Parts: sequence; C-alpha cells; structure tokens
Amino acid sequence: MVLAAGLGKRMQSQSTKLIHAIAGRPMVRHVVEAAKAAGMARTVVVVGSQADEVRRAVGEGDKRIGFAYQDSQRGTGHAVLCAESQLAGYEGDVLILNGDLPALLPETLKTFIEFHRASGAPLGLMTAVLKEPQGYGRVVRTYSGDVSRIVEETDATLEEKAIKEINCGIYCVDAAWLWDPLKRARADNAQREIYLPDLVEILRRDGHKVAAYRHPDADEVLGVNDRRELAAAVRALHRRKANALMDTGVTILDPETTYIDVDVKVASDTVIEPGVMLLGATEIGRGATIGTGSRIADSVVGDGTVVLPYCVITQSRVGRACRIGPFAHLRPDTHLDEEVRLGNFVETKKIRMGQGSKANHLTYLGDAEIGRRANIGAGTITCNFDGVSKLRTVIEDEVFVGSDTQLVAPVRVRRGAFIGAGSTITKDVPAYALALSRAQQVVKEEWARRHGPKARRKSGGSRQDR
Ligand code: UD1
Ligand code: MG
Repeated sequence: MVLAAGLGKRMQSQSTKLIHAIAGRPMVRHVVEAAKAAGMARTVVVVGSQADEVRRAVGEGDKRIGFAYQDSQRGTGHAVLCAESQLAGYEGDVLILNGDLPALLPETLKTFIEFHRASGAPLGLMTAVLKEPQGYGRVVRTYSGDVSRIVEETDATLEEKAIKEINCGIYCVDAAWLWDPLKRARADNAQREIYLPDLVEILRRDGHKVAAYRHPDADEVLGVNDRRELAAAVRALHRRKANALMDTGVTILDPETTYIDVDVKVASDTVIEPGVMLLGATEIGRGATIGTGSRIADSVVGDGTVVLPYCVITQSRVGRACRIGPFAHLRPDTHLDEEVRLGNFVETKKIRMGQGSKANHLTYLGDAEIGRRANIGAGTITCNFDGVSKLRTVIEDEVFVGSDTQLVAPVRVRRGAFIGAGSTITKDVPAYALALSRAQQVVKEEWARRHGPKARRKSGGSRQDR
C-alpha cells in the first residue's frame, strides 16, 4: 500500500508533491516501481488530493495496481483505513509505504520483509539514524531497547526531540493485526490527525512485540517534504544512476555535474562530459561522446555519434556515427540517419535527413525531408509557414543547396540538382538542374574612385553630391 493522498503543504506548490518530477519520474512512481520490483503481487495506492493527477503519475492500466480514495486528509492512519475495502478478505502481510520516499531500493524492501517475517511480530517498521532528525517521527525505545512508540516532531518533548532514530514511513504488518487495532487510534495530537505510527503503541499495549529494522543507509529513506529535500533526492538519484552507468563501462567525467534520469540507457564506452543532462526516456548508444552543456531529452543517439558541446536535443532520433553541434538545436521529430552532420547554430524540427547529408552552419530546417548525401549550405532556411499552415520541403539525394538559400514550401528539389547561393526557391527544381533566383550582379567600373568616400572627402562633398 502506498500512501499518496496528501498535498504536501511544505512544498509551497499548487500541485501535490507526489507528482513533482524527481530524476525523470513523478515522486510517487519511484515508490510504486520499488514495490513492484520487490515482488508485490498487488499495489493499492491511496489517492485524495489531486487524485486524477496522482493516478496518471502512477500509471493506469496495470492490473496489479489499484487505487483507494481518501476524501479528506485526516492523517496517514486514516489513509490506510480508506484502503480496507480494497483489501477485504486478504490474509497475509501488507507492506505500507509513504509515497514520498523516491530513493527507496527494492532490495531494501526485500530485506525488510524477510526481517519482519523472521521476527514473528505482527508489525515491523523500518528506522534509520540521522544526524539531523528534525521533522521526522522519533522512535522511543524502552529501557531494554524495545520499540515502545513513535512520537511525531510536533508532539515530542525536548528529550524526545533529541532522539536520532527516526521512523522511515515503511511498515510491514500482518493484515490480521491492522484494521481493528488501527481503528482505535485517536486524533488527540498537535495536528489533529490519525497517525499510522500510533499502531506501534496500540499493538504494544495489546502485548505484541514490534520489530524495528534499522536501515544503515539513511539517504535512501529520506522523506521529501519540501524543496530542499526534493533537491537532495534528485541529487541522490542522479549520483546513484551515474555510479550504475560507470559500473557498466560508461565514462562520466564529472558525476557531480551530470544529471542522468533513472530511465535513461547509455551503452558502454560512451563518454559523458561535465554538465550534461540526459533526461526522460533517452537512449545513448555505444562509443558515443556527449559534449559539455548538452541537454538531451526523450531522444535516441546512435553508436559512435559525437554530440559536441551545448546541443539541445528533444524527442529526436540521431543515427549512428553522426556529428552534431556545437550549439545545434534538434527540436521534436528530428530523424537523422547515419553519418549526418549538423554544425553550429543549426535548428531542425520535424525532419528526416538521409545518410551522409550535411548542414554545417546557421540553418533552419523544418517540416522537411532531405535525402542522402545532400549538402545544405550555410544560412539555408526552409520557409515552412505561410502564416496559416505548415508546409513541406523535399530535398532529394545528392542535392547541393548553396549558401543563404530560402526554400519556400511547398517545394521539391529533385535528385542531384544545384541551387545557386542566395536563391529564393519557390518552384520545384528538376533533377540535375541548376536553379538560381538571385538578381543579376551590376558592376560599375571605377565607381569607387569617382564616387567612393575617398573621392567625396577630396571634393569636400556631401552625400547629395553622389
Ligand atoms: C511521516 C510519519 C513520520 C515519519 C515520516 C517519514 C506520520 C504521522 N508520520 O511524517 O513518523 O518519520 O513520515 O518520512 O505518519 N498521506 C496521506 N493522507 C494523509 C496524510 C498523509 O495519504 O491524510 C500521505 C502523504 O501523501 C505522504 C505520506 O502519507 O505520501 C506521509 O505523509 P507526510 O505528511 O509526508 O508525513 P511526514 O510528516 O513526513
Ligand atoms: Mg513525509
């Protein structure tokens, strides 16, 4: 069971904290995925605040995931009770997780569940020791070291606040000892809420043992309640991802400044320079280089491709052995075959470009289809917008487009044609033809000697004298 009905006021946000993105996934999805990977047969997510958004963030359509609804946020204990009917008839252990634990690892959950089963206690909880435990519920132990209860920060005495062992918000409880005992919890606390951690004291009073598993890696179980904790979680997940990639043969020159989202794939022998962001569902091939300052989101980059510094690539596919940038901007739906070159200040959008084609400088290519081995000169612009709709340009194989050309769509330049520099192409160009549209050059011999600035200075004349 994942508790995800709260709003998270400490985030100071319009949207519930559970849908805030952390390393490429909404916060709550990290928790649901960890539960799944730990082998949960079924997951019930308790939603409430912005329920539809949270459902979407979790992902619908997976039969193993169900939702329960908490209509008003009356505390974590109340949230659990809202899922009772979803679990009617279920016998066995229930793993309960706060939805704000994005760094949680499935292996940790497996270890915890084993610990709980071995303990024989109806309730097990995970704890950790923090240098700065502020904000967390503290684990109060008896003289002999048994857990006796959890006290929330807002209800704690000074003495209790000094306790460094915290409740992680991860519980494993036998369903037989969950529902009825929890219904006895009262909202007689500073926040006027039904606290799930009160189950500890309730079961203890009934004479049960509560087993506490102290997790050694506190960073993994840090709750995200405000923006500072969000930044800490993002950093922890990026660092973990970088380590995992380095272990599989990816060179990351500076893991501290490199942000790679959890779902990104990078093949071995690829080099990632400092300050790179690889986001969302990005996949980078083998032996590629991603230059400093580049940001690649939801894109595929092929084997051996070099992305030079400061490129922005979004929802695009770059083939094998390409050379992109520096300072190239590949907007959504750019599809490049192998060995394509795009140089500095080239912007693309909704294009296909065939093998070996080049656009090396200062160019805009939008809504275009470009064949193989075409050469697009510096300053080429596809004029794809007539003020109402977007229109297509087709440039076939081996076309040579001279510098500073405008291609006014819809227009097609057929195979092997040449376009003279400085042309404005408004009509289709036949195969192997030369098309030119620039004005004829005018030459006036000796004009500068007679009318140029030097001549004017000599005669003391003004502009009108010309
Ligand atoms: C909670 C624990 C605290 C523990 C800490 C660990 C309680 C009362 N306190 O505090 O002991 O140290 O987590 O991170 O449980 N939620 C609901 N419905 C509600 C209230 C909360 O679904 O009515 C959900 C939230 O969306 C969140 C989770 O429960 O995902 C925890 O709530 P949160 O407000 O973050 O509790 P903490 O104050 O962090
Ligand atoms: Mg919390």
